[in-house]
Amino acid sequence: MLNVAVVGMGWWGKIIVPLLKTSKKITVNTVVEVNPASIADFAKQHSLNVVTDFNAVLKDPSIQAVVLCTPHTQHTDQIVAAANAGKHVFCEKPLSMTRADVLRAIKAVNDNKVALAVGHERRFEPPIIEAMKIIQSGELGTPLQIEANFSQDKFLTLAADNWRLSGKEAPAGPMTATGIHLLDLSVGVFGEADRVLASVKQLGSQLVNGDTLAILVSFKNGGHALISAILATPFEGRFAVYCNKGWIEVRDKTHPEAPEGWVLTKTLRGGIKEVREFPPAPNVLANLEAFADAAEGRAPYPVPQSQMIANISALEAIFKSAKTNAIVSVES
Ligand SMILES: NC(=O)c1ccc[n+]([C@@H]2O[C@H](COP(=O)([O-])OP(=O)(O)OC[C@H]3O[C@@H](n4cnc5c(N)ncnc54)[C@H](O)[C@@H]3O)[C@@H](O)[C@H]2O)c1
Repeated sequence: MLNVAVVGMGWWGKIIVPLLKTSKKITVNTVVEVNPASIADFAKQHSLNVVTDFNAVLKDPSIQAVVLCTPHTQHTDQIVAAANAGKHVFCEKPLSMTRADVLRAIKAVNDNKVALAVGHERRFEPPIIEAMKIIQSGELGTPLQIEANFSQDKFLTLAADNWRLSGKEAPAGPMTATGIHLLDLSVGVFGEADRVLASVKQLGSQLVNGDTLAILVSFKNGGHALISAILATPFEGRFAVYCNKGWIEVRDKTHPEAPEGWVLTKTLRGGIKEVREFPPAPNVLANLEAFADAAEGRAPYPVPQSQMIANISALEAIFKSAKTNAIVSVES
């Protein structure tokens, strides 16, 4: 059993702890929260020891790993500090905000020989695993272009001063909330990005940081991804990969918070559309348990570090493009 401390007990930390309480691979007894009063009842309900100082868990030899659910600009320094203390790290997305920072984070985990995992649980959805397998098998031919959408209206009720709506913690409006998951999947198909063009606008809400984001990512191997992320329309989740012999699409039935599963559609040239339903599956827990497998040496974490770097390198370029409206080259 991997003994972890969850750091940052807001929305997502409170989703992760109850999931970990059901795990046969991970145990959690300690959490870190700078505002402990906000989780007094939750801590009692889940028998949690709450500490306010991150360094306290880094010094605790009984804790082998940390799960970071903190605001975005804290991630890199927390990964580096945890790795230097010999702790394995699961970090929520985005891993870092710049290429320089993700390289720093990855150097620290590699220097200290600890595992690193990232909260891109969409990679662990059974229909996405199936779609990736089909694409890699070559059945659909050469991947040409991705169309992907992750939109929701959950943030419309957030207070205007919430960090998730700030230009510093969440540049390019919806990008760090939802767009980043689609960028990660696109990197999973095409690899390193070459250049990006992003446009973010405030069109249909009070979200001054932007509620409507459109991105065109061009990849080094030639493919494109068209990514759409909107914060002022009801939930939509769609990931489609068009190839030169056919195409495949995964569509969420509902928002992942109240999951009802997915529909996978596959079309081959000359054939008819094949439609398969997938029931809900515990993909967030599957990601955390894949992290435990990597930390305890049972299996490598399935997302290679090269793709973690490629994702954040493209993310930084998207931030710059959304700010300047210019095409931005992705550093490599
Ligand atoms: N994978 C997903 O689908 C998904 C979904 C939601 C959020 N997230 C990610 O989870 C992370 C947290 O987001 P959230 O929506 O839960 O935010 P939140 O504001 O609800 O929670 C963050 C919590 O961290 C606490 N905190 C801040 N600094 C801290 C520190 N140094 N030490 C300990 N606690 C600290 C805050 O008091 C707060 O309770 C972000 O990276 C976000 O992108 C991922």
